Amino acid sequence: MREVRIKLIGFGNVGREFVRQLLARERIIAERFRVRFSIAFIADSRGVLYGTSTIRRDLLEKALNVPRGAVSSLKSGVRGESACSAVEK
Ligand SMILES: NC(=O)c1ccc[n+]([C@@H]2O[C@H](COP(=O)([O-])OP(=O)(O)OC[C@H]3O[C@@H](n4cnc5c(N)ncnc54)[C@H](OP(=O)(O)O)[C@@H]3O)[C@@H](O)[C@H]2O)c1
Repeated sequence: MREVRIKLIGFGNVGREFVRQLLARERIIAERFRVRFSIAFIADSRGVLYGTSTIRRDLLEKALNVPRGAVSSLKSGVRGESACSAVEK
């Protein structure tokens, strides 16, 4: 199984739909393409949301339900951190 770790910058229409599709199709992607995705962080214009090593499904589902610009307000979010800084870590 190939592991692909995603650093997601932008969590508006496209970013959220991308995550919804990954969650909905996780199993079929693994079975058909032998690829497993994980999300290292999600950045919007106001901050960054991290997981411990990756962002788990339950946290991704919570992130999909916060308003725009508020992803870093969730637990393990860092308000005010830039996407560039997250990429460089
Ligand atoms: N929607 C489409 O059908 C479509 C089609 C083709 C191409 N595109 C392109 O795809 C891109 C995204 O479109 P979209 O509709 O998803 O836009 P969107 O809904 O406006 O989302 C943009 C996202 O980028 C974040 N963002 C803006 N500046 C940032 C920064 N400096 N650092 C980190 N995050 C930043 C915004 O943060 P906040 O949430 O904090 O505002 C938001 O989460 C655009 O370039 C658009 O032109 C979109």
